Amino acid sequence: MNFVVENLINQHIQTLNSKTSSPKKDNTIRLDKGELPYPPSPQVIQAITNAASEINRYPEVMAASLRKKLAEYTGKLPEQITIGNGSDDLIELIIKVFVKPEEEVLLPIPTFFVYEFATRVIGGIPVWVKRQENFDLDVEAIIEKLTSKTKILFIANPNNPTANLISRDKIIEILNRVNCIVVVDECYYEFCQETVADLVEEYPNLIILRSLSKSFGLAGIRIGYSITNQTITDYLYRAAQLFPVNKLAIAAGNAALENLSYVQSSIEKIIKEKDFLTQELEKIGLKVYPSATNFLFIKTNSVGLTSKKIVELLREKNILIADFGLKQELDEYNIRIAIGTPEENKVLIHTLNTMI
Ligand SMILES: Cc1ncc(COP(=O)(O)O)c(C=O)c1O
Repeated sequence: MNFVVENLINQHIQTLNSKTSSPKKDNTIRLDKGELPYPPSPQVIQAITNAASEINRYPEVMAASLRKKLAEYTGKLPEQITIGNGSDDLIELIIKVFVKPEEEVLLPIPTFFVYEFATRVIGGIPVWVKRQENFDLDVEAIIEKLTSKTKILFIANPNNPTANLISRDKIIEILNRVNCIVVVDECYYEFCQETVADLVEEYPNLIILRSLSKSFGLAGIRIGYSITNQTITDYLYRAAQLFPVNKLAIAAGNAALENLSYVQSSIEKIIKEKDFLTQELEKIGLKVYPSATNFLFIKTNSVGLTSKKIVELLREKNILIADFGLKQELDEYNIRIAIGTPEENKVLIHTLNTMI
């Protein structure tokens, strides 16, 4: 039989790009993914080791103990918290709950690519809204793009890749003027301490996203969570998997939340290094944007090199950074660099100095 499997694959899935992954050498300096360069605390590693002896058993349903700990950490009720396999998972869950095929999701660009990806996966339509020159939100442009099909507006705050914060007043203005779900993604909350999580009881359409990947340094174990009202949380729970995260992740998350001073010390190191790296990059002649995150967004035109070229040259020296050249309304001169350890940052600066 002449069987063409593509004929059975949903049309909107056929339009997605294939994923690639290249192996990394052991001594590579990895500043391309916005990760924390520090390993988790010894308590977290011990908790994972202890939990490993019980992985013949399924994890707790809906990660109940971690949910309780996150409720304490955020000052909310457990019934307001939903846990996912990274906040990426929650982005997909929220879209699954609110958006039908052909409905629209508003994305002020440039922004985090997963919002668009997750919208396309369910056959939704990403609708782009341009930001202002300094990457602040253009409220009027957002309002203009609203239609009867608009279901969600995603606001990464601070934004990835541009690292800037949107003011609380602006978010409140948007909440007062739109009638769709507003997701404020606070994945980098601990680095800037700016939040609108206190507004979830007041605005029935507001969902906050958080992550243990960045400031908690648990990117590899995958824990994200949302904070919203009890009604939305109940529906997210209905659509979520019974076991959203594995047993090792629950153990790691609980241990990390019991040892917040370790997390705080990592954050302080990153903030100190961010100042150092910013100054050094500016000395080289690069334009560094203000950052409320653990990474820097940088323009390279002042040194006459495209981001593609800088990324390639650094890769030859085993240093990985992210190329945002020609992505989502950006020209060919944009890079994103995560703050590494003091040693990694020095190697980066030294290498850039030899190139530029
Ligand atoms: C704005 C934003 N949201 C969500 C994520 C995904 O985080 P997680 O590791 O929790 O899936 C990232 C990761 O870079 C991000 O920048």
